[in-house]
Amino acid sequence: MKITNNYSFQGELSVPGDKSISHRAIMFGAISNGLTEVTDCLQGADCLSTISCFQQLGISIENNGFKVLIHGKGLHGLTAPRQILNVGNSGTTARLISGILAGQSFQSTLDGDHSIRKRPMKRIFAPLSEMKAKFQCWDSGSFPELWKKTSPNSIPFTIQGGNLKHIHYQSAIASAQVKSAILLAGLYGDGVTKVTEPVLSRNHTELMLASFGANLLSIDTTAAIWPEPKLEGQCIHVPGDISSAAYFIALGLIRPHSEILIRNVGVNPTRNGILKVALEMGGNISLLEERTVSGEPVADILVKSSSLHGITIGGNQIPTLIDELPIIAVMAAFAEGTTTIKNAEELKVKESDRIVSVAENLKAMGATVTPTTDGMIIKGGNQLHGTQIKTYADHRIAMSFCIAGLNANGETTFDDRDCVTISYPSFYQDIESLIK
Ligand code: S3P
Repeated sequence: MKITNNYSFQGELSVPGDKSISHRAIMFGAISNGLTEVTDCLQGADCLSTISCFQQLGISIENNGFKVLIHGKGLHGLTAPRQILNVGNSGTTARLISGILAGQSFQSTLDGDHSIRKRPMKRIFAPLSEMKAKFQCWDSGSFPELWKKTSPNSIPFTIQGGNLKHIHYQSAIASAQVKSAILLAGLYGDGVTKVTEPVLSRNHTELMLASFGANLLSIDTTAAIWPEPKLEGQCIHVPGDISSAAYFIALGLIRPHSEILIRNVGVNPTRNGILKVALEMGGNISLLEERTVSGEPVADILVKSSSLHGITIGGNQIPTLIDELPIIAVMAAFAEGTTTIKNAEELKVKESDRIVSVAENLKAMGATVTPTTDGMIIKGGNQLHGTQIKTYADHRIAMSFCIAGLNANGETTFDDRDCVTISYPSFYQDIESLIK
């Protein structure tokens, strides 16, 4: 398929399983007793990294490409890995597994790809060190021959866990990865561990861990967890990922003569900011058949071509749509008027610096964009033209600019189309299936 503006899109699809929920189902299954069955588990590279890390920690995991069976060994059943745990590109794997490894009496070393080595880890080292886990960072230049004495606070690193103290951590950032790492370490603490965030981040850990039998309490932006629960394997049905549905929401709204039904999408209120933004921009979007599946709110989403207008996005909204900001910026470029994205500094520490990667590519397509320290300002309405997109090996940049290219004059090409496999291996096929 050439990425040009020759098509309209109609029909229905199901997007792959939610990445955040899939990671958690695998991890929580591994530290529970007995079998956990995960249906519609995301088969993206990030979740495969999580599976392989837990296999290296002695857990038997069967994956037939649709259902993942995890033969959990309980809270204290993991065994020391014989090799370095490779987290690939996955920040969620790196940060959440560290919470679990903080509770183990053995040492583990984590490494990953070029991008993950640049992502900040101090945010988990700080609370987990307060709980008495020990970290040693490697100098990736000389790795694996030498220890680096001064900590660069990044991957690769070694963690020595065990004998954890409970803490009440006041997190400076609203990050579900940080919160989850602390709560998972709290399973192994010597008392009730608490985390308070400035704004509530996605709460899949709290919902799912409770379903496995953990004792948790969430009040406002504080989550508390009691140590040493007896976790039991569960059957988890993973809903479609709203972060993947977001590309089809944008496509249906901005492409003339389009109507797309996206079935079975997770619409947890801590994740559904994209829906509110689409409505506020004037989008014709509705939720059908709202229901609850494996403790998570789920719905079908219907979108129809719409005339969008610019809005301001910031504050408490940001954690509910942080991964959708690249595609929201693309929607803004096709909307009338100005869209301002603010309070989104976290964009700088994702798989790429998404303030740079979004603004540069939008500009290259002819949009009027001003990057700011905490977001960007987009003056919408210019006719965009195709260009060569620089993806920075970031899956969400590739997918967002595919949607932009499907609305731009001329052809859009990519330096690395295939990075979509991180979260959405069948992305291009699914787009093609809707061409009318
Ligand atoms: C995630 C949390 C978010 C999100 C990431 C997945 C999770 O990161 O951007 O893609 O599964 O917990 P932060 O915790 O860094 O905000």
